[in-house]
Amino acid sequence: MSSYSIKSLEQYFKVYRKSIRKPKKFWAKIAENNFTWYRKWDKVLEFDMEKAEFIWFKNAKLNITKNCIDRHLANRGDENAIIFEPNDPDEPARYYTYSQLYAEVSKMANVLREQGVQKGDRVCIYLPMVPELAFSVLACARIGAIHSVVFAGFSSNALATRINDCTCKLIITADGGYRGTKTIDLKRIVDEALVKSPSIERVLVVKRTGQEIDMKEGRDRWLQPLLDEAPATSMAEVMDAEDPLFILYTSGSTGKPKGMLHTTAGYMVYTAYTFKNVFNYMPGDIYWCTADIGWVTGHSYTIYGPLLNGATTVIFEGIPSYPTHSRFWEVIQKHRVNQFYTAPTAIRSLAKEKIEYVRDYRLDSLKVIGSVGEPINEEAWHWYNDHVGNKRCPLVDTWWQTETGGIVISAIPFVTPTKPTYASLPLPGIKPVLMDELRNEIEGNQQIGNLCIEYPWPGIARTIWGDHQRFIDTYFKTFPGKYFSGDGALRDEVGYYRITGRVDDVIIVSGHNLGTAPIEDVINEHQTVAESAIVGYPHDIKGNALYGFVVLKETGLWRDRQNLAKEINQLISDQIGAIAKLDKIQFVTGLPKTRSGKIMRRILRKIAEGEQSDFGDITTLVNPEIVEEISRERV
Ligand code: PRX
Repeated sequence: MSSYSIKSLEQYFKVYRKSIRKPKKFWAKIAENNFTWYRKWDKVLEFDMEKAEFIWFKNAKLNITKNCIDRHLANRGDENAIIFEPNDPDEPARYYTYSQLYAEVSKMANVLREQGVQKGDRVCIYLPMVPELAFSVLACARIGAIHSVVFAGFSSNALATRINDCTCKLIITADGGYRGTKTIDLKRIVDEALVKSPSIERVLVVKRTGQEIDMKEGRDRWLQPLLDEAPATSMAEVMDAEDPLFILYTSGSTGKPKGMLHTTAGYMVYTAYTFKNVFNYMPGDIYWCTADIGWVTGHSYTIYGPLLNGATTVIFEGIPSYPTHSRFWEVIQKHRVNQFYTAPTAIRSLAKEKIEYVRDYRLDSLKVIGSVGEPINEEAWHWYNDHVGNKRCPLVDTWWQTETGGIVISAIPFVTPTKPTYASLPLPGIKPVLMDELRNEIEGNQQIGNLCIEYPWPGIARTIWGDHQRFIDTYFKTFPGKYFSGDGALRDEVGYYRITGRVDDVIIVSGHNLGTAPIEDVINEHQTVAESAIVGYPHDIKGNALYGFVVLKETGLWRDRQNLAKEINQLISDQIGAIAKLDKIQFVTGLPKTRSGKIMRRILRKIAEGEQSDFGDITTLVNPEIVEEISRERV
């Protein structure tokens, strides 16, 4: 694999220029030299940006699990593929070699087949961070089923919406999951969801907590006895390059969540290549990404990217603060982790604790540290760099999205000089462009604009499940001929990119994407609520927190506002999940609106941020007087 790694800045520029001039040739060479194919492609790329159609490695045949597992067996069969570190530090870690991974995935694949799952069927996976989560994902890929992992922090309603959107046939879950001192009743949540999800024929249950659960006869089965009976070898389905690999839901600014669809060959080539380069992974290294597999980071850089490179990847079940704020550092010391990849929100929450929590641990195994999910502020960057990386490990700030499949802008360690708060330079094959409001490209450096990508790369999502028009409208219409990320960015004097944040109505809270409209819809369902508007405001740990402005109906039902605020948050928790709860709720008599009835969120944002006077031009409002009232009563 070493043939495709970049080792110097000079080489980076050379490779980058080549990759932009001749992208097809560039990706074909990487695909040719580093993977196992049943059949190679007829054409590297066919695409139409307007129609948002992308075919990478046309007519090639492969199975991604052959590349993740089987081809490592001869040379690395006895090396660890997965290290599982449980929530409770007293529970022994579990180690799975590549040979064992092959057996586990094969058994799971055989069970799925026996339960009637076929190529193209959708399988929902709603599991805590246990090894079975990785086995399930890979087993689906093995048999050509499309996995749809739903983060185990989502509520039963959110789960049902996701199951129904892609009509999953089977769901894999657990009796419960551990999270610090808490236990999450996963099976109970699934039971609730399934009342509304008729497409599910079978529920397979992993035993994790041993808690009491209901098992519905004919529908629910414990997984372990089935695995015990299943053969430990399996045939890998022959997949077309563009056969779907997985669906992963992400929030949009409006409407229901978007089921981003990724396909097989392009995603494989892209995640493998970016993993190798962004983490400078060397054989024998222990790599740890703390992201839950329920998010794209966990898909691409806990499972696929590392395993495609024959790496050892750590799966961590717990949270950074349990049993103490040293847990991350304890795990790094225990497993001698070489590459560590986490989110700014985790860094900020740990940085506010006593320095001893990190100082007392040996972190000298670390070589590279990474950040993902939201902009990393200067203070967090320095704390991470100084106390975790010891000013010795390059800190890679990696910008990407569920839609991009893999990292698109990032420093390459020991190659690209890092700069605090800057994601820095595009990876090979990626041509970022900044666009202004008039849809013109902003040329030159020291510029700020809407961040787009000009040419397709292999990891780009192929569609939104069941709604290709929405895919076109969301990503390819605003700036015709280009992929629009929804983020703003600044390009500095040397061409480094700094992501300034979302330019749409998506708010990133603790690294999680939340659309404002879907949350507002939930609030508006409350019987006392007439309308509402949500904005983000800066928060020390979460990056952004949610501030809700709520107008009540004239029913007199709302006298106890504190209780009402609690009820609203409970509703959000039930319908979406606890991550979408509002930090602040202000009851107001009206919202600032333009003559066309549009809520002026710009003003609400300023109020939420604590601005008291400078609201800009408010003369276009039909109710300018409301601004002062809302500002005066800010909570
Ligand atoms: O706003 C950007 C932010 O996270 C969004 C994508 O979220 P999601 O699809 O959930 O994927 C998260 C993990 C890849 C982006 O539109 N974001 C992600 N990484 C960064 C970031 N913002 C700034 N800097 C980053 N490194």
